[in-house]
Amino acid sequence: MTNQNGWTKSSWKNYTALQQPNWPDQTALEKVTKDLALLPPLVFAGEIRTLKDLLAKASKGEAFLLQGGDCSEDFSQITAPIIRETMKVLLQMAVVMAYAGGKPAIKVGRIAGQFAKPRSSDTETVNGVELPSYRGDMVNKSEFSINARTPNPKYMLKGYYLAASTLNLLRAFTRGGFAALHRVQAWNQEFVAQSPMGRSYDRLAKQIDQAIKFMNTIGITTDIPQINQTQIFTSHEALLLPYEEALTRIDSTTGDWYDCSAHMLWIGERTRQVDGAHVEFLRGVLNPIGVKIGPDYDIENIKQLIQILNPENEPGRLTLITRMGCDVIEKKLPPLLRETRKEGYHIVWNCDPMHANTYTSESGHKTRDFNDILKEITRFFEIHWAEGTIPGGVHLEMTGKNVTECVGGARNIVSEELHNRYDTTCDPRLNAEQSLEVAFQIADMIKR
Ligand code: PEP
Ligand code: CO
Repeated sequence: MTNQNGWTKSSWKNYTALQQPNWPDQTALEKVTKDLALLPPLVFAGEIRTLKDLLAKASKGEAFLLQGGDCSEDFSQITAPIIRETMKVLLQMAVVMAYAGGKPAIKVGRIAGQFAKPRSSDTETVNGVELPSYRGDMVNKSEFSINARTPNPKYMLKGYYLAASTLNLLRAFTRGGFAALHRVQAWNQEFVAQSPMGRSYDRLAKQIDQAIKFMNTIGITTDIPQINQTQIFTSHEALLLPYEEALTRIDSTTGDWYDCSAHMLWIGERTRQVDGAHVEFLRGVLNPIGVKIGPDYDIENIKQLIQILNPENEPGRLTLITRMGCDVIEKKLPPLLRETRKEGYHIVWNCDPMHANTYTSESGHKTRDFNDILKEITRFFEIHWAEGTIPGGVHLEMTGKNVTECVGGARNIVSEELHNRYDTTCDPRLNAEQSLEVAFQIADMIKR
């Protein structure tokens, strides 16, 4: 079935798709995508539209997008405690932004489908042995053996089922009372509670608790969804196009196409070619779409991308996720804002302070410095204020676990400590305490 301008859910196949695994068995791949196409959608068109409406608010400065989670979700880490801890931190950060910052936060996880990774090289060589690169748990395994590294399409099915169980848990937690504002104090984790950030959070939680008690005292009911429930949306990089296509469905109420693998999908820095398969695929689905933009962008190219992905200039449709680097941002962000502002484009500007601030520590770990992350966020805000555009959100790699992957922060993790709890299968994440610290800093800025 074709919609306008020749798009179909498989029209991407006529374009070059970068960063795809070399699937050794095409028949097996086809079998898996057929099976996936028969399985229920993971998210629903109505929810996707709700997120788009919220993002339209973020584009006007009436809400703030908080997008975060693992760089790459690890199949073996999909357990109730780990999902719950990450969700708690997202809830805490959102409460800090709403209460201290005065703006509602739109919570979007890099979760329930963030299983595929672009890589700088197709292969990896260790001690003279060359094997395919690890491309995420939905493609192959990180262990360095020919067996583990051979792409296996069955992992896409496993990814689907794990995404479904993650979503099931998120829905239960957010609808079932766990996320009720009465419980705001209980979201503080033990190892965070002892820290300066934990104490600041506790003070804020007590104030919220008192406000709710006061409302109850004077007879205002707090038994309402705004207090008892919340919503966490899902997102991932739409990298594996056979998976995305299989989960793309027509919404029976409107006749429109939605990619029902997640509420929001983004295109990575390495796959955003205007004549590439990823742009072709995503232009045809009505989800909110993100595009990563690094410092080497070409402005005419970005304008073309905007026109292809959001021809109607619909607010909330397009989020541009800038990842410039904490120093380069001062030179690279202003012209981008000026040029797009001149055209009158509606854009949610989202700051990814992670991906251009990665380096290898003396200990040999891929890491990021908390101060660089904070610097990129602070400059992002300042540049937007100076240009008269709207800083609409932040995109973080973070976890609820007490990991030691990024240096710095209130506890000043040093490079010698990175090996203690370095658990990531891909990029280094902020731990729960560092994430909360970022939220307090952002709250300070959105309040201004
Ligand atoms: C990512 O978000 O994990 C990623 C690979 O980012 P980018 O496309 O910006 O490099
Ligand atoms: Co990453």
